[in-house]
This record gives sequence, structure tokens and C-alpha cells, in this order.
Amino acid sequence: MSIPLLVGNWKMHGNRSECVERARKIVRGLRKVAGLAEVALAPPYTGLACVKEVLKGSNVRLAAQNCHWEESGAYTGEISPLMLTEIGCDYVILGHSERRHILNENDQMIARKIVAALRVGLRPIVCVGETLAERRAGHTRSVIARQLRFALKATAKAAIQHVEIAYEPVWAIGTGQNATPKQIGQVHTQIRKFLLKSFGAAKGHRIRILYGGSVRPENAEALMSTPEVNGLLVGGASLSPDTFLPIVHSISA
Ligand code: PGA
Repeated sequence: MSIPLLVGNWKMHGNRSECVERARKIVRGLRKVAGLAEVALAPPYTGLACVKEVLKGSNVRLAAQNCHWEESGAYTGEISPLMLTEIGCDYVILGHSERRHILNENDQMIARKIVAALRVGLRPIVCVGETLAERRAGHTRSVIARQLRFALKATAKAAIQHVEIAYEPVWAIGTGQNATPKQIGQVHTQIRKFLLKSFGAAKGHRIRILYGGSVRPENAEALMSTPEVNGLLVGGASLSPDTFLPIVHSISA
């Protein structure tokens, strides 16, 4: 297993100067943890190029929050994976629950985006997760199984080592309510088994499975010590270096 991956998802927060300021403080604060954890920042599209400038010379990576599945074309308002590589993105978050549930992205669209991202050398961070209604109805397992099966259906065995998975229970995102270690452990184990079965032992063991949903400095260490948790996808707490840096430091100490 490679080192843990910590991703700060800034969502639709921050103008260009706020993004630059935030990235600068994070890069400065991270010097000490070089090599112990991999960190990626996902600013809004308008912040990608200016944050890239800040990240130059550091080992902090740049992530986008979404992309289209075509390289170019008549898709008003969309951005292509190729355009993201031109800016210098390393990662792209795909299938985030806010895109699935607010913008109606479906499993087929997400599968196509993963293939398109991999084709141009972007590493997709593929999000899966159940809603509260699905969990209460006892459907967590089947929802995760369906999302994984569809998302990775078209991903070649040779490309899977470039994929990261993030389990984000929808009811834990931005609510302050974490999944319990037991709930997280169950789903992460299910994801690991799926990866091993679909892509073989050698590859399946190496893929990082991140947890996301109300990660805070106070709970980061405990979340990271849950079995099969190989990184964290952080939303709200990544918006301030005062909360994001302690998360990174707590897991790379
Ligand atoms: P949160 O968001 O940390 O604010 O819950 C996580 C995410 O949406 O990736």
C-alpha cells in the first residue's frame, strides 16, 4: 500500500485570491510531512490555474472536482479531462454525491468519465456512498456494489492502479455526523473485496480507499486507524489551513 492520500475538496468556495492564500498557507504548513502522506487540493475551476502556480516546487497535487467524458465538443458549460491536464491537474474527483444527487449524474456517466480521465493520464478519485434512506432500508451493500460495478465496468485492469476510491456516506457529508468505525470498516472491506475479485490480488490490494464525510481534526486519526481506510476526502475542514493542516499532521505524525 502506498502512503495515505488526503484530498481537500473546496467545492464552490473561494475566489482566486482566497484560493491562492489558502493554498500558500497549506503548502507552507506541509513542509514537515513530505513523504509521509500525499496531499491534493481541489479548488473550484477558476482557482485551478492560480493554485497550480502556488503548488509548483512542492509535492502537493492539484485535483479538479469533475470533468466531462469527451475531449472536446458541443457541451456548453463542461470541461474536458484534456483541458484539466493542460492546467496541470493530477487528480479528478468523479461521482461525488453532490453531482449524483443535485446534478443528476448517473452511474453510466461516471463510468465514461473515469475512462476519459484515465485516457489522458488523470487519476480519478471515484466516490461512492449511500443516502440515509438507503441505509435505513438496509440497502447500503447493494448500493455500493452497484455504484462500484457500473463505475469500474469499463476500466481496464492495466489502468486500475491509477484509480482511487472514496467512500462517502451521503448522510455524513457536511452534517457533522460521522459514520462509525464499524460502518466504515464494513463498507471499506466490501470495496476491498470487490477490487480484489475484479482486478486480482496484486492490483486490488494497492488501490487506496479513502473515507469522506465530516472529517475534522478531532476525528481524523481515529478514522485513519479504521481497517482499510487509506486516506481521507475532506470538505468543510479543508477550507481553512487551521483545520486542514492538523488533519494532515495527525495522520502523518
Ligand atoms: P465534508 O465534505 O467534509 O464537508 O463532510 C466531504 C465531501 O463532500 O467530500
